[in-house]
This record gives sequence, C-alpha cells and structure tokens, in this order.
Amino acid sequence: MFTFNFRKRNNNDLVLEIPKHIAIIMDGNGRWAKKRLQPRIMGHKAGMDALQDVTKAASDMGVKVLTVYAFSTENWTRPEKEVKFIMNLPVEFYDKYVPDLHANNVRIQMIGDHSRLPEATKTALYNAERKTRNNTGLILNFALNYGGRDEITNAVRAIVQDALDAKFNPGDINEKVIADYLYTGRLPFKLRDPDLVIRTSGEQRLSNFLPWQSAYSELYFTNVAWPDFDEKELQKAIEVYNKRHRRFGGI
Ligand code: FPP
Repeated sequence: MFTFNFRKRNNNDLVLEIPKHIAIIMDGNGRWAKKRLQPRIMGHKAGMDALQDVTKAASDMGVKVLTVYAFSTENWTRPEKEVKFIMNLPVEFYDKYVPDLHANNVRIQMIGDHSRLPEATKTALYNAERKTRNNTGLILNFALNYGGRDEITNAVRAIVQDALDAKFNPGDINEKVIADYLYTGRLPFKLRDPDLVIRTSGEQRLSNFLPWQSAYSELYFTNVAWPDFDEKELQKAIEVYNKRHRRFGGI
C-alpha cells in the first residue's frame, strides 16, 4: 500500500463521508510557473507530479473514480510548443508513475476524442489502460481532448445512427440511454457522475467539463494553484463537501 495512512477523519476526529467520484479541473499551472519565473511548461510538469500525489491520497481515502481534466478540446489553440509538451506528459507519466499506480491496484482509463492525439500519446494511454485493466481499486480517468459539448454532439450522432439502424425507437430514448452513449458510459453505472467537482486556482466556472454528469455535483473552488494542491487540500475539499446537504431536487 501507499506509505502514508489516511484516516477518514477530520481534525475533530469526525468520520468523513468520502465522495465516490471526484472530478478535478487542474487549473493554474501556467500562473504557478510564471510566479517562479519559469516557463509555463514547468507548471505542467509540476502539475503532473501533483496528480500522482493526489491520486495516491484519493486512493488511500477510498475514492472510487478520479476524473481529471488534462486537455480540453479548446486547448489546441495554445502555442504549439506547449501543446507538444502536454501531449508528451502521458508518455512520461507511463514510464515514471504508472508502475507505482499499478502496484497499488489503480486502474487507468480515458475519456475524450482520441482520434486527434499524437500516436505516442495514444500508445502510452492505451498501454496504461491495458496494463491496469484488471485492477479493482481507484479508477484514474483522464479527460484528454475532452469537451462536454463535443461529447454530447458525438452521443447524439451515435444515437441517431442507431435509431436509423432500427436498434431502438426514438421514443425509447431516455436519460439512461443518453448517459450510456457519453464517454463516461464506460465507467461503472453508479459511478459515472461526480459527487464533487474541484477547480483550482481561483476561476469559478466549469469550462465545458462534464456538463451532463455534473448536474447535481457539489462544486468546490479554491485559490490554490494545481501544482500546490495536495493531500491536505483534498481533505479540506472533502470536509467542505461533508458540510453540504445534497438533496437532488428533493427536500
Ligand atoms: C490548466 O492550467 C492545465 C492544463 C491545460 C494542463 C493540465 C495537465 C496536467 C496537470 C498534467 C496532467 C498529466 C498527464 C499525465 C496528462 P493552465 O495552463 O491553464 O494554467 P493558467 O490558467 O495559470 O495559465
């Protein structure tokens, strides 16, 4: 197991309810680097290291799914050098961190449109998925070239095609059918929607991240930049989550 031992308790020794699915918008890498007079890419590198630590902490706490926004469908407009650097991170991640995660029963999956990813990126991700596919612990779910509207557009296209192919009648389409066609349809049924969405570095919006799935999620915003986010910050977010009262439209 991991070296540290997280008790599911806060400082007052109260037992915390651990969200089953946590989704994170890992924002602020660029600003973190700029503050240190470093190039932006160093922020992404530090962000990758933070991801490893937070994954370990989440796994130890008993989180079932951790979905992380690593690259959006809008991020291609960034300078070529930066895009190239981010696209190489899964390759580095595979060599440096996947063996440790695998040893700790973490399963790696992806969501997003992967047709546009460079071959080396795809290979690293497919290898990580294949290597860890029998693991039964936390699912680390990478959103890469992911956009919520793109996801819904793709789902509609596939649903219409299947209806035209007479696989079902349009009248049979319901929320469950739509959820099945989304990228998150590959997650275990009860774990598809995040209980808690965290965004680091001060912005308070979802930026096209899991718009369907986050309909009832609790949202947590912190000013901490992603590279500085760690086990302690994750615990803080979970403590705030525990103070919220989720009613799902009921009373
Ligand atoms: C947003 O910060 C961050 C990203 C677009 C990239 C996130 C990627 C990682 C944390 C590494 C993930 C690891 C793997 C293995 C893929 P920003 O650049 O928008 O920061 P800024 O708002 O301060 O400019």
